[in-house]
Amino acid sequence: MAQDAANGEKEFKKCKACHMIQSPDGTDVVKGGKTGPNLFGVVGRKAGTQEGFKYSDALVKLGEAGEVWTTDDLAAYITDPNKYVEEKVGDKTLKTKMTFKMAKNQADVVAFLAQHSPE
Ligand code: HEM
Repeated sequence: MAQDAANGEKEFKKCKACHMIQSPDGTDVVKGGKTGPNLFGVVGRKAGTQEGFKYSDALVKLGEAGEVWTTDDLAAYITDPNKYVEEKVGDKTLKTKMTFKMAKNQADVVAFLAQHSPE
């Protein structure tokens, strides 16, 4: 799939009610809500490990199972978070706190996140 980070930046409007993108020095890339974790640096980060955010057991277990977010994994996660965790961890009872599902342009939004993931 072709990826378009500029389109992803527009699509991120759907995410920012719950997520900000803020660099460690406090610079806001995108001002957003605090319902979800800061997504600065999420590509390459272990799932469920953003400092100071209180995750569900589902996201903590996903990280413990070895999930380090790749672009492909992120695209699959945002398509259906609960299904993704179920399949990766193998436990149907785990539910994430993210209720949003993205049906299209997932790769674009992930390309935008990758632009703000320096490592
Ligand atoms: C978690 C991305 C929309 C609420 C996450 C994580 C990612 C992500 C990558 C896991 C982060 C980590 O492991 O540190 C996105 C993207 C969105 C989006 C790209 C838009 C396409 C939303 C929306 C909401 C939301 C609209 C609120 C209605 C949450 C919450 C978590 C989370 C509460 C923590 C999940 C848990 O602990 O189970 N999101 N998200 N997200 N997101 Fe989103």
